[in-house]
Amino acid sequence: MNDELLKIKEEAISKIDKASSLKDLSELRLEYLGKKGKVSLFTKNMSTLSNEEKKEFGKALNDAKVSINDALEEAILKAKEKELNEKLEKETLDITLPGLKVNKGGFHPLTKVIDEVEELFISMGFDVASGPEIEEELYNFEKLNLPKNHPARDNQDSFYITSERLMRTQTSPVQARTMDANEEKTEIRVICPGKTYRRDDDDATHSHQFTQIEGLMVGYDISLANLKGVLEVFVKRMFGDDREIRLRPNYFPFTEPSLEIDVSCSKCNGKGCNICKNTGWVEILGAGMVHPNVLRGCGYDPDKYTGFAFGVGAERIAMLKYGISDIRSFYTNDLRFLEEFNRVEGEVLK
Ligand code: PHE
Repeated sequence: MNDELLKIKEEAISKIDKASSLKDLSELRLEYLGKKGKVSLFTKNMSTLSNEEKKEFGKALNDAKVSINDALEEAILKAKEKELNEKLEKETLDITLPGLKVNKGGFHPLTKVIDEVEELFISMGFDVASGPEIEEELYNFEKLNLPKNHPARDNQDSFYITSERLMRTQTSPVQARTMDANEEKTEIRVICPGKTYRRDDDDATHSHQFTQIEGLMVGYDISLANLKGVLEVFVKRMFGDDREIRLRPNYFPFTEPSLEIDVSCSKCNGKGCNICKNTGWVEILGAGMVHPNVLRGCGYDPDKYTGFAFGVGAERIAMLKYGISDIRSFYTNDLRFLEEFNRVEGEVLK
């Protein structure tokens, strides 16, 4: 029986040596060491042996089991390592393959202009406010000293939602809202960037939706000189230190006096060119001293308080600053246009 056992043991070890996969090895384990495996079968035959023989054969049987098990364990380790190596080899990355291009997002030129203006005014102590785009007539017109039959309320210019609500035609209603909301009627310094709507036919210089940035400062002894000073800082910051501003009389129902502000043409430096229509000046914003009726209507005593307001088109600033000739480019989402404003220095366009 001993010889037979030895034979089985050698046979098992030689098969284990030749096995090449984990699957084969687990089958071999069953074949030899399983409950009904070839080695276990010897146990059954042991009853015929004498006690002395049992002891000896038991030792041999155990030795065979341990040897086969050791051989299996060793072979399993090797097989695992081999499988891992094969897997790693198969999964090697080909780093010479061209990568996928990741498209970077960037800021829209209008967002850039608004951010820059906000930053500047915040540095001068202004807050940033916002108001609804669907506005009440009360704020878009009445509180701004535009009574019901005023010609500037011409229906043609506005998108009405109901008889009393419309898409705001300007950001000026935020002036009235800000003053109204200030219950203690304290001093105000605020700017408000936002979308505005007018019933214009779209062309290179008109868009039915555009962006305004409103400014309002209310306090004691606020004068035109303050308005001029603030706007001078604004223009120099946006268009360069050597820009000048010019104030021309104008008319807005909610300011008195009202002004049109021009900036000296940055293309020709005042000599005259196509951008400034040979005048040397480019119109950039409307402004004025807040009309006493507006102050009064929002609960501010015009004998105590004065203020200035201005409204500037964000598209207008961006067009002048970046040399954009068609206002529609802001809204057509042409990536080539947008990428122009988000180029990293030195990057070559495709
Ligand atoms: N709201 C005016 C416009 O849309 C601009 C403006 C704002 C004028 C504030 C004076 C004061 O043209």
